[in-house]
Amino acid sequence: MKKRIFSGIQPSGNLHIGNYLGAIQNWVKLQKEYDSIFCVVDMHAITVPQEPETLRRRTIEIAKIYLAAGIDPKKCSIFIQSHICEHAELGWILNTITKIPELEKMTQFKDKSAKDSRESASAGLFDYPVLMAADIVLYDTQLVPVGKDQKQHIELARTLAQRFNHKFGETFVIPEAYTKKESENIMGLDDPTKKMSKSAKSEYNYIALNDDAETVRKKIKKAVTDSGSEVVYQEDKPALKNLINIYSLLADKTPKEVEKLFAGKKYSDFKTELAEVIIKFLAPFQKKIGELSDEKVLAIMEDGAKKVRPLAKKKLEEVKKKIGFIV
Ligand code: TYM
Repeated sequence: MKKRIFSGIQPSGNLHIGNYLGAIQNWVKLQKEYDSIFCVVDMHAITVPQEPETLRRRTIEIAKIYLAAGIDPKKCSIFIQSHICEHAELGWILNTITKIPELEKMTQFKDKSAKDSRESASAGLFDYPVLMAADIVLYDTQLVPVGKDQKQHIELARTLAQRFNHKFGETFVIPEAYTKKESENIMGLDDPTKKMSKSAKSEYNYIALNDDAETVRKKIKKAVTDSGSEVVYQEDKPALKNLINIYSLLADKTPKEVEKLFAGKKYSDFKTELAEVIIKFLAPFQKKIGELSDEKVLAIMEDGAKKVRPLAKKKLEEVKKKIGFIV
């Protein structure tokens, strides 16, 4: 039997190459070997305010991105989280075995709630990691391919699965995070000490997956670099290291190969080439997105939901029986 992977992305903002390299690029590779389930997590997106029409548009957009990136609906199941109500139901049950301090220490909650004010943060935002744990354990997931920022949430999913199993008997598979060193944490172009982020204040922080060629050239030109002039891949040159990582992941070369390619050349030569590598990746990708109709994508996601629903129902029924619900 193939091992199972599960992952998801929120339809809550423009996706950037960090999301692509940290998550989607790995999914595309892993789908060949693993039984793969990919979700558009709209219930997570509403933990911060969303404009309904924008949320609908973005949900379809994320699915188009999955497909354009090469996720094959014949091999994988792609669906919308809110179409499988078992996620919310299991989330509620897991809430009852989650301790408040376990959620209070979540870095992402602390960051997100600090952005506005903690007083206006929703209970949903606080509880977000429990719903994520439900997403994962509902399908007996073994591996969760994500970026570094999600590792802490997966740790909680492991804790909750273990706690449930201990209390009620063997029920859940204990999931593991899957990350790759070079891609797990793509940093901001304007500040290599912070991760590239959908919610960054400046658009010079990221390359959006829908940026056009001119915008890419402008943003890469403005990207910060380190002191010195050689194109080297070193820990003490975080800006350069980040740019070389992006280059190597998109051009399918090792960082050392990229270093060699630019030996004796200037930062500006490297940046010009990097912009072209990104454009060469984005152009066909954007074309494919443009060719996918909303209807086709919605049909694929309905089909995906049909495939995973029986798994979700079976697992939830098992959980309900074990905790003493009458089913
Ligand atoms: P989200 O929507 O914030 O991000 C989607 C994916 O992109 C990765 N990522 C990055 N990777 C590398 N460098 C970056 N700068 C970068 N920024 C984002 C994220 O780690 C993620 O893999 N909670 C999740 C969604 C979710 C989920 C799940 C994921 C809900 N349920 C179950 C896995 C399994 C989130 O908000 O991701």
